[in-house]
Amino acid sequence: MTTNGTIENGLSLPQPVSILEILHHKIFINNDWHQSVSRRTFPVYNPATDEKICDVQEADKADVDKAVEAARAAFQRGSPWRRLDASGRGKLLHKLADLLERDRDILATLETMDTGKPFLLAYFVDLEACIRTLRYFAGWADKIQGRTIPVDESYLCYTVHEPMGVCGAITPWNFPLMMLIWKMGPALCCGNTMVIKPAEQTPLTSLYIGSLIEEAGFPPGVVNILPGFGPTAGSAISHHPDIDKVAFTGSTEIGKLIKEAASASNLKRVTLELGGKNPCIVFADADLEQAVKYAHQGVFFNQGQCCTAASRVFVEEAVYPEFVKRSVDYAKKRLLGDPFEFNTEQGPQIDKKQFNKVLELIQSGKDEGAKLECGGCSVGERGLFIKPTVFSAVTDDMRIAKEEIFGPVQSILKFKHMEEVIQRANSTEYGLTAAVFTESLDKALTVASALQSGTVWINCYNALHAQTPFGGFKMSGNGRELGEYALAEYTEVKTVTIKLSTKKL
Ligand code: NAI
Ligand code: MG
Repeated sequence: MTTNGTIENGLSLPQPVSILEILHHKIFINNDWHQSVSRRTFPVYNPATDEKICDVQEADKADVDKAVEAARAAFQRGSPWRRLDASGRGKLLHKLADLLERDRDILATLETMDTGKPFLLAYFVDLEACIRTLRYFAGWADKIQGRTIPVDESYLCYTVHEPMGVCGAITPWNFPLMMLIWKMGPALCCGNTMVIKPAEQTPLTSLYIGSLIEEAGFPPGVVNILPGFGPTAGSAISHHPDIDKVAFTGSTEIGKLIKEAASASNLKRVTLELGGKNPCIVFADADLEQAVKYAHQGVFFNQGQCCTAASRVFVEEAVYPEFVKRSVDYAKKRLLGDPFEFNTEQGPQIDKKQFNKVLELIQSGKDEGAKLECGGCSVGERGLFIKPTVFSAVTDDMRIAKEEIFGPVQSILKFKHMEEVIQRANSTEYGLTAAVFTESLDKALTVASALQSGTVWINCYNALHAQTPFGGFKMSGNGRELGEYALAEYTEVKTVTIKLSTKKL
């Protein structure tokens, strides 16, 4: 990519649009825009400039009740949504994907304003993933099949995979649109209806999707979107007695609360995608340049705000000094700045709370004796920017090796033997992703088999696809998003058993 707006082969780059007015800042229920019952609003900020973008209607329990009523009505037997045949649901999801493609520049611009992530990444990574995910699940809509099951010959037995009903979705601020679509794709292709609460920091692209839902032709009440806060609107969703399932992406702390709420209310089904402290293991025989590059991208991508972040890099002794040296070179070259500039690689952290958390963890690394190789502080007069930070000589007992940092901080640890690194990689409460770099197939597959992790990448990082399941072992979550596995999280299995006549013909 060049800096003058063209890709090397001469194609022109997408351009951000100038958004003069935010059109969608209300609550979306029944394909209509509503004020909050309380009439309260809350401000949404651009973390790159600290400027307020707009005020958004603040949903609370009373609004959630309204949305659940709408979603329940849309799910009633005989409703337009329930009467639509399965291929019709696929067609609507394809139409939604078409509209995301049409408005891709608007959505990427809004996502950048709201999150501070570089515009080109929002356009090429986030929007691409959203469009592919919608099309992937559009394809599943008319292929969700039960089975006939052989039992005692006097019975015929079959299963039907039915939608669960009203599905809650509570999403985070790091990939606002992508995490929404990861839930919306499978929920809608299976025939559910939805009540969605985006993160309070980043509601704008989710609300824009509301307008596209209506334009695509989804019947009223199928998708409802309520901007608001966690302890109020979010908690109302997780406690609601008439919501059948809730899908959540966010912190492990709140994940536990969601499960408690589900259990205290109606035992609604729960899928959770939570934190990670992901090991990235580099053996001495690896292609070192590739490993350095992937480990760098793996931890610094999206300002380090990824549940998949490569936040514990274990490097075999023999190549440790060289790996650290090259990683520092990469980190020092990483370009921070205006996320709308084409060559910017890193924008600001999402908000003051996260900014302070990251700086506090950096301080703990210094205090506990890790070697600060570069970065280690904030930068700039405005916006929440933190310099790409690399620590070497990190040991397992340090906080930076144990806690999810969710910021641009790379911790590099040293190891001697394969068995040792497997044991250390697994000694965490998390188990979301892991990566192994080696030229040895034997080593790669041995480690892949030994790691307690929902995803293992071999000689790559963050290689996510709509077709492949994603989720965590241990306290990184419950259930899987994406792929065929996601369908099981949005359907109930009904067993129908028919007694056949035993009369001889
Ligand atoms: P959070 O877990 O509080 O927020 C995620 C979502 O949960 C937001 O929509 C929020 O409004 C909602 N929420 C908060 N409290 C709730 C409640 N009581 N009931 C229902 N919903 C509730 O995460 P937060 O505070 O923004 O970030 C804290 C840490 O969580 C981060 O530093 C990071 O370590 C982790 N995190 C992990 C994410 C992931 O992708 N797995 C995404 C965001 C944060
Ligand atoms: Mg929180």
